[in-house]
Amino acid sequence: RTHFESQRGRTFAMIKPDCYSHIGKIVDTIVTAGFRISHMKMAHFTIDDARQFYAEHQGKPFYNELVNFMASDVVVGMELIAENAVPRWRELMGPTNPNTARVDAPRSLRAVFGTEGSHNAVHGSDAPASATREINFFFGLQANPAVLNNCTCCVI
Ligand code: PPS
Repeated sequence: RTHFESQRGRTFAMIKPDCYSHIGKIVDTIVTAGFRISHMKMAHFTIDDARQFYAEHQGKPFYNELVNFMASDVVVGMELIAENAVPRWRELMGPTNPNTARVDAPRSLRAVFGTEGSHNAVHGSDAPASATREINFFFGLQANPAVLNNCTCCVI
């Protein structure tokens, strides 16, 4: 880790499958807001990857929909570095529900790019310990080129 990174907090951010066409705009917003992106990777979760990533929500009514959605197409995961990275990234994302976000935080990413339900554009860790777990999980995933190459966005 560089001195810059070790002196500041970090979080895990993910652009969800509904925002493939907005990846550039979301990355631009992140950098403009003052985060440093120290790692970034595109991946395609298997159902099992998504189940593990969201294991803490198993049993909640939205769990299966969330897991299926997150495995439906590619995601972009990033390690973001900034002071107070966890709360600052959550503020930039806005409230979980995009309809609430449009009322309470109309300039937030979920207000601008989210639709409804699990289609809320972006994910962010809820605490530094979750950030560590999620960063290790995501960047440790074995890329599966067959899955990535066959994603719906790549079918011409
Ligand atoms: S909880 O119950 O307070 O822990 O829920 P929350 O932290 O708000 O959300 C956990 C993740 O589940 C997603 N979520 C939903 N998906 C589909 N439908 C509904 N109704 C729904 N409610 C919450 C939410 O986006 C969270 O995923 P991430 O990826 O962390 O944003």
